[in-house]
Amino acid sequence: MIVLGIESSCDETAAALVQDGRIILSSVIASQVDVHCLYGGVVPEIASRMHIESLVPVVDEAIKKAGVCLSDIGGVAATQGPGLIGALLVGFSFAKAFAFARHLPFAGINHLEAHIYSLFLMDDPPEFPFIALVVSGGHTNIYHVTSPNHFELMGRTRDDAAGEAFDKVAKMLGLGYPGGPVIEKLSLIQNPDILFPRTLLEKDSFDFSFSGLKSAVARYIHDHDVSSDHEKARVAASFQNAVIDVLSQKLIHAALFKKCSRIGISGGVSANRTFVGILSKKAASHRIRTFTPPLELCGDNAAMVAARGYTLIQQGNLTSLEDDVYSRPKIN
Ligand code: KG4
Ligand code: ZN
Repeated sequence: MIVLGIESSCDETAAALVQDGRIILSSVIASQVDVHCLYGGVVPEIASRMHIESLVPVVDEAIKKAGVCLSDIGGVAATQGPGLIGALLVGFSFAKAFAFARHLPFAGINHLEAHIYSLFLMDDPPEFPFIALVVSGGHTNIYHVTSPNHFELMGRTRDDAAGEAFDKVAKMLGLGYPGGPVIEKLSLIQNPDILFPRTLLEKDSFDFSFSGLKSAVARYIHDHDVSSDHEKARVAASFQNAVIDVLSQKLIHAALFKKCSRIGISGGVSANRTFVGILSKKAASHRIRTFTPPLELCGDNAAMVAARGYTLIQQGNLTSLEDDVYSRPKIN
């Protein structure tokens, strides 16, 4: 069955056609980042308006690229939440109207579950059970995933998400938005030799806290001259190293705690190949294998939405066309 997936929870308008929840026929992403970076972060009202402008052309392009007809589409899935309400409404309402007009089954998708499903679009996806980290601009959640529908939330951030910390530190260093890619690039040219704090919280907690690290970086920038590219790169590398250290330690701890030999990471921050490299190496020493989707599936995309939608539609787990979007996670 071919499922049309739609994603509009933040600043990417995306549509994809995925066959049987596994084969990506097309995946089109229109990023608004060039506009939001002028304001130093996502402006919700601008995001909604840009989704309205981009959605129909993006869906048209996805259908064209996949080389399918409208009648080949067997189901529709769209991100229902969590995310920016105005932004979500654009994609969700479009998808409901599409499903209604074509008499197709419809599934509203949890954005975090969709990120976990991006792992199933890999050539060699993880088998159950596995530990999943969804790490993005809005979330840093660790799950124990035991079946296609069971995502036990083991830990989450108590303040900033890891991606948010990347964005804020980049802003402090005058590096623009989004922060992750530029911090990762700068980190490649300097040693992480400033010791920033690693907040691990209580002994058996899988929660995160990045606000102390963020404040430590702010204090460092206030107390030292970090105007040169060299110093900026040193701070960036040391900050990134602290985040990677905490994420890796918690993930390996979670895997050992659940006696799991697989860890999957997804979400925007999993695009950070330095993180992937360090985590894989550390995990391998515990005989734990790590899984990361290809770069184009790490950030927000609609293929992961269609993949999650396929499972729900197959199970008859449909969403009423009278349902609405939600900004905060329902159960996760
Ligand atoms: O999943 P995503 O595209 O959108 C949300 O659902 O939030 O994640 C965006 C976040 C941003 O905070 C961005 O700075 C971060 O992912 N990010 C990265 C990298 N690429 C994107 N963080 C660290 N390293 C990267 N290479
Ligand atoms: Zn996301």
